[in-house]
Amino acid sequence: MKKKLLSALLCGAMAASLFVGCGTSTATTDTSAEPAATEDTADDAADTSSAATGTKVGVAMPTKDLQRWNQDGANMQSELEAAGYEVDLQYASNDVQTQLSQVENMINSGCNVLVIAAIEASSLGEAMDMAAEAGIPVIAYDRLIMDSDAVSYYATFDNYKVGTVQGEYIEKTLDLANADKTFTMEITAGDPGDNNASFFYQGAIDVLQKYIDDGTIVVKSGQTDFADVATAAWATENAQSRMENILSSYYADGTNLDIALCSNDSTALGVENALAANYSGEYPIVTGQDCDIENVKNMIAGKQSMSIFKDTRTLASQVVKMVGQILSGSTVDVNDEETYDNGTGIIPSYLCDPVYADKDNYKELLIDSGYYTEDQLQ
Ligand code: BGC
Repeated sequence: MKKKLLSALLCGAMAASLFVGCGTSTATTDTSAEPAATEDTADDAADTSSAATGTKVGVAMPTKDLQRWNQDGANMQSELEAAGYEVDLQYASNDVQTQLSQVENMINSGCNVLVIAAIEASSLGEAMDMAAEAGIPVIAYDRLIMDSDAVSYYATFDNYKVGTVQGEYIEKTLDLANADKTFTMEITAGDPGDNNASFFYQGAIDVLQKYIDDGTIVVKSGQTDFADVATAAWATENAQSRMENILSSYYADGTNLDIALCSNDSTALGVENALAANYSGEYPIVTGQDCDIENVKNMIAGKQSMSIFKDTRTLASQVVKMVGQILSGSTVDVNDEETYDNGTGIIPSYLCDPVYADKDNYKELLIDSGYYTEDQLQ
């Protein structure tokens, strides 16, 4: 992995301010873990173990309602604990105020680093100000925290690529480039408060727009703008009721729906529920993301075509590595320093690679890799 000087300098400065912050907090920080001020070329394992002693990491996750965040939280906790950190893991039931106070509590109770998957990109301002004042580094986990210069690093999957892969899956499956017929499509995107949602949407639309423009794809509802297709809180019920309306308004005459472009699995589930109750035509291609168990079961049953597989183990490992690198003052691995501007400037990011799973490759990706057992998918 490429290590960048800028990150090294930034992180040296942050690590220094971190330990100033620790002195004034109630943390049981062991100052013997104080990092070297200059770039440390020791390997990552050594970085981590030397910095971990007496160090508390706050991990704020959005909700337990969605399977992936449970996995993310569990992976982060076990990896951080294995590396010797104390962990304060909190879930906020998708409630912005709850997450705000959880993060404030983490700061007040002496967390030395914060790892945050924000419920809403711009709603953590006060807590971010507190973190900045206390010199506590913040890693935005999966979702970028906007409009705050307290965000030190961002670790996620390549969100634009998630959408691209969904769009290309549709393009390839229907051989759109050589199509001599018209396909109908409806789009279901994510929560407008989540910075990722527009990346997913745009990645897919950038692949499919030319087919909409030349009439190969027809969106019967006419709803194509992000604002019209977004799903508040990524909620299955919201996606379901919108799709029920679309099906009864535009497809009740027997027109087939050929493509249901859904940004993730919770919205795909809503669309699948709506189809089950209100649709008798040929089953559409349905996309998704996360490989949630219910959706993989639907994939096996032919009710969902694909889901983006984001191996949360990879992201957790990367973030744990980042924590260690920040604390030890060594260079932080990033691989993108141009895509994610949170309104205060570019946030150095590490983007993991998303791939797709479908009925042909899910066994290899999900079972052989130990992500799920075969029993979980029965
Ligand atoms: C994540 C997705 C997830 C969605 C809903 C997004 O920020 O990147 O993996 O499906 O939130 O929780």
